[in-house]
Amino acid sequence: MEVEPIRIVAFASGNGSNVRAIYDNIQRGSLSADLVGVISNNSGCGALQFARENSIPALHISLRQFSTAAAYEERLLNVLHERAPDLIVLAGYMKMMPESIVRAFKNRMLNIHPALLPSFGGRGLYGHLVHEAVLDYGCKVSGVTVHLVDAEYDTGPPVLQRCVPVLDDDTPETLASRVLQEEHKIYSDAIQLFAEKRVQISGRSVRICAGSKK
Ligand code: GAR
Repeated sequence: MEVEPIRIVAFASGNGSNVRAIYDNIQRGSLSADLVGVISNNSGCGALQFARENSIPALHISLRQFSTAAAYEERLLNVLHERAPDLIVLAGYMKMMPESIVRAFKNRMLNIHPALLPSFGGRGLYGHLVHEAVLDYGCKVSGVTVHLVDAEYDTGPPVLQRCVPVLDDDTPETLASRVLQEEHKIYSDAIQLFAEKRVQISGRSVRICAGSKK
């Protein structure tokens, strides 16, 4: 079945390995999407550099560039309306998305978190700190959550979750790298489900409908 590519805009703050994985899956033909923009609060980040190298519109937009929060939000909204994404994906974006943007893209904005929410999420738990907390707790499994974005940190309903084992001799680095490998698959899988219009959302219930047989 031919699936019409959906337009996605990615927000990222760091290395951008998730943006890269999404782009690679599109190039490979395993993800029906067009990456129509990458936006970052961090002008020197790997995600923006990658976008520029691959002729993807790359924008540095940070609250610090504006004298008011309203002007910042207006700029974000204008850019997003101009790029017209079907779906926004936060891929290692370390800033809170303003509520006006979350509202404008209700049920059309995803985030990826490197643990099984609602454990090890919320304000102050991001990136490396998540893996340190998982190991400090002595967990035997961690994982990845792709969830819809709401106005709080990491509280929107999950779309997909997958487990990743924690090994006895893991360090935050080894665990992060095992989790990241899963992130690079699950985010594209989740986006593909939206492209195939298989995601049914009703309040906190997110159901994945069966796909048509190939
Ligand atoms: C990823 O592990 C992502 O899940 C995490 O930051 C990393 C970014 O890596 N995001 C969060 O912790 C958000 N709460 P990347 O820049 O290589 O994609």
